[in-house]
Amino acid sequence: MADIGVIGGAGYVGLVTGVGLAALGHKVIAQDVDQRRLDMLRRGISAVYEDGLEPILRQLIDRNLISFTDDQGATIRNSDALFIAVGTPSLADGAADLSQVIAVAERLRDEIQDYTVVVVKSTVPVGTIDVVVDVLSQKLRAGEDFDVVSNPEFLREGSGLIDFFAPSRIIVGATSERALKLLREIYEPLLSGSVVVDVPWIDSGREIPYVETDPTSAQLTKYAANAYLATRISFINEIAGISEKVGGNISDIVFGLGLDPRIGPGYLKPGIGFGGPCLDKDLRALITIAVENSYDPVMFDGVLRRNELQLREVMNKITGALGSSLYQKRIALLGLAFKEGTNDVRHSLSIRLYRALRDQGASVTGHDLLAVDEAKELEPDLEASTDVDAVLAGAEVVVVLNSEQIYADIDWSGLGTATLAPYVIDTRGVLDTSALEASGITFDILGSTG
Ligand code: UGA
Repeated sequence: MADIGVIGGAGYVGLVTGVGLAALGHKVIAQDVDQRRLDMLRRGISAVYEDGLEPILRQLIDRNLISFTDDQGATIRNSDALFIAVGTPSLADGAADLSQVIAVAERLRDEIQDYTVVVVKSTVPVGTIDVVVDVLSQKLRAGEDFDVVSNPEFLREGSGLIDFFAPSRIIVGATSERALKLLREIYEPLLSGSVVVDVPWIDSGREIPYVETDPTSAQLTKYAANAYLATRISFINEIAGISEKVGGNISDIVFGLGLDPRIGPGYLKPGIGFGGPCLDKDLRALITIAVENSYDPVMFDGVLRRNELQLREVMNKITGALGSSLYQKRIALLGLAFKEGTNDVRHSLSIRLYRALRDQGASVTGHDLLAVDEAKELEPDLEASTDVDAVLAGAEVVVVLNSEQIYADIDWSGLGTATLAPYVIDTRGVLDTSALEASGITFDILGSTG
């Protein structure tokens, strides 16, 4: 079993990776600069919401398989493999900001003593691996003191552990056989289905595809995956827009479309657009990579543009219902996180919608099951609650922004007979239209007419 360090180990990708690798039986040190998160993690509490994470984390702490520290030097010196999971935010021009990755590389250059494999987990532009090798080579010899490997992550927030323990594939990009061998050893327990703690998602009957390639192809595979998902979402949002104009029903269209095995049913839910920390950022980074290499990414420009326009489509629906003045109009937003099943409000389009409505003088209340505190931290004036009935009370317009089951279960009967029945806008197609009709509620489903 290997000694593994995770740099950025209290962040979302780093934590899921560290917990996952420790559950395979490796000894993991998760290093981070965020003291508050480290303190919580030592007590078995995670600041990021991940389904099923805390019970596994506690088992790993009890068995001494994972520890948390802010000491980067010791983490580097004590690891056979170092997984780099620091953030790569976007610069104003869309390019990825690599300052954290470079700072870590400089530290590695000064601290590595024995042969260490540096595994880049963060999604970084093609060419970053060369930069890391250049920094390390200032003092160390590639192939003898270190090797750098690209091992992109495909984790979805909220279901990161499922994606770690039952991945669709593992992609490893390296040119050194020695490094490839260590990575195979690290992932071997996962490939053979043998974990050391109780994990419900292991399916030992299923073979996990394990792909070895060069670092450039590995990195580009990650960008391609996120660009493809973003493209599907913009694609279906555009179909939804056209469907609405000509009188179609988007849920029937999605169903019929997804039955084609060449297309499949996933990632075809229309809505306010793709939010969150990854799809938009990675698509912008990919566009920058293309432009910097004299390639015109016309298609991806269109995917981004459609995503920006989606917010306007939802705004138009609200003003269509209330008139152009939103001053003191009561609007309820259902779903504040960037999607269901997470407490992450970073780059949430619901929050952008809130700001646009607030700036026009509307009186907005928001509901979320997991992200109320986070939303209030970001927007202290937002009135938000986990109690859906309280949020709905008195609302003139209700906008459903994610697919949480609780919204499908709302009992509209009381609201339909209220003096001021709300106008309901469903951007996700989750509501039961016959129940709404029976309650006398007027509604508007994104992508459908009538
Ligand atoms: C995404 C990818 O799905 C992961 O594979 C990848 O590892 C991750 O980015 C990353 O690069 O770190 P994530 O950002 O957690 O994961 O979220 P998704 O579940 O992909 O959803 C992204 C956005 O698309 C959300 O706003 C969601 O509501 C929206 N979406 C998703 C739709 O509008 N329609 C759909 O059919 C699916």
